[in-house]
Amino acid sequence: MRFATQWGNNMDLEVYNRIKSVVKTSVGIDLDHYKDEQMRRRLDSWLVRSGMKSWDDYFARIKVDADELLKFRNYLTINVTEFYRDAERWKHLQNVVFPMLLRENGTKPGLRVWSAGCSIGAEPFTLGMILDEISPGKKHYILGTDLDKGAIARAVSGGAFIQEEVRGLSQAQRSIYLRPGGPPYYVVESLIKRITFHEQNMISDTFETDFDLIVCRNVVIYFTSATKDLLYRKFTASLRKGGILFIGGTEIIPHPQDFGLRSIGISFYQRL
Ligand SMILES: C[S@@+](CC[C@H](N)C(=O)[O-])C[C@H]1O[C@@H](n2cnc3c(N)ncnc32)[C@H](O)[C@@H]1O
Repeated sequence: MRFATQWGNNMDLEVYNRIKSVVKTSVGIDLDHYKDEQMRRRLDSWLVRSGMKSWDDYFARIKVDADELLKFRNYLTINVTEFYRDAERWKHLQNVVFPMLLRENGTKPGLRVWSAGCSIGAEPFTLGMILDEISPGKKHYILGTDLDKGAIARAVSGGAFIQEEVRGLSQAQRSIYLRPGGPPYYVVESLIKRITFHEQNMISDTFETDFDLIVCRNVVIYFTSATKDLLYRKFTASLRKGGILFIGGTEIIPHPQDFGLRSIGISFYQRL
């Protein structure tokens, strides 16, 4: 079976469908949940970059080259991240949302917080740093999950992070939370220990419940609207009443009440 590399006619849709089926079996990702046009463009440019002439050749390669298979998987799932990504929103979380959640938490040991689609860990580590700074001594449960095994393995090792990924950290934060040396940078063991990491496919797997805060940023942008709706429902069900969903800067939930949520400012939604 030969696969073309160009898109734009009926034949090309057939090619895409064949690629989807091979990606599902050999890479374990169901591309039906991802936006078609965007994914086709990404696949096209990946093949060009790989230097392979056809998808046939490329799939033959990833059958025997585990490292290339991992790179392809990472590329498809898009691991881009950084500490305090979109700083204004994180400031709002730190100055307004967390203080409210901590007041409500009262004398309980700590908050239940989840970074869904956490990539290599910058997001849950940011949550850990903020909570450490504003509520020292509290024992929060911070969960970081991602579909990508390689990303979770890096998170558990505390890095490595490149310069661009740590640029949001102040000098003081670097000296407390990063190990000496770098680039590349690694976070300190005591911060890693505060986070529970595990692999999870947010589309097909079940979720833990009773979260005070769920952070899911820059993940659903790649999904179809039906899959987004499914996820917003699942997230709402996993929040406690009054709990908060924190989404990405370019994302919006147009009718939050349809999912049992209400908007409480840019990027923040509260479970009704
Ligand atoms: C662009 S990164 C966002 C990382 C982080 N949330 C941030 O905003 O910096 C998207 C992450 O979503 C993960 N992802 C994609 N599909 C997923 C799925 N079905 N379940 C869980 N994670 C998924 C990818 O592996 C990737 O690490």
